[in-house]
Amino acid sequence: MTRGLFISFEGIDGAGKSTHIERVAQLFRASGRVLVLTREPGGTPLSEKLRTLVLHDPMDALTEALLMFAARREHLVQVIEPALARGEVVLCDRFTDATFAYQGGGRGFDWQVLSQLEQMVQALPQGGLRQPDLTVWFDLDPSIAAERLANARVPDKFEAQPAAFFTAVRAAYAQRMAESPQRFARIDAAQSVSAVGEEVLGALQAWLKQVAA
Ligand code: TMP
Repeated sequence: MTRGLFISFEGIDGAGKSTHIERVAQLFRASGRVLVLTREPGGTPLSEKLRTLVLHDPMDALTEALLMFAARREHLVQVIEPALARGEVVLCDRFTDATFAYQGGGRGFDWQVLSQLEQMVQALPQGGLRQPDLTVWFDLDPSIAAERLANARVPDKFEAQPAAFFTAVRAAYAQRMAESPQRFARIDAAQSVSAVGEEVLGALQAWLKQVAA
């Protein structure tokens, strides 16, 4: 059976990942792979309810982190693990790196506590930890992201944060990449949409060759 693949997409709000996730999906569809396109927080009926709460209701930092991981646990058990076991490709718009970036970096929440929650929620029955096989990180200066987001949509709780918040989110993404460099592909998201698209496809194809070898 073909091996399941788990790919996550990350970046600060306004980095432009959605357009490119759709392109990556088309690439896999064209190669005949069965695809699951999903997102966090969300991806199951319960996790989508939790998404509405965390994106709109003010709450304590620990409550926010716990709800992110609760939504993730449900998503892993109901959607991600079964799809990977069937040999499918899971494309996930954000995963745990977003919790380290937003709750850890942005909110300043304890990194060690997040690591403990990660260990608990992503533990595999056979041992080890479920992590994406590849994380595509759209890295962008927060001031450019803010320009792109202006007037784009009504901001949620996170999108409404000041520039300093996103500077800290970006730094936390960089820290996650430094901790697991082999898992990350960093994309320079300041380029034009077509140049970003080329870079994403290039990184993906190089990675797929490596996985197949
Ligand atoms: P989205 O708008 O890209 O779908 O992401 C929803 C928002 O939730 C985005 O501002 C980032 C935030 N978020 C967290 O704060 N922690 C998390 O663990 C995840 C997955 C998202």
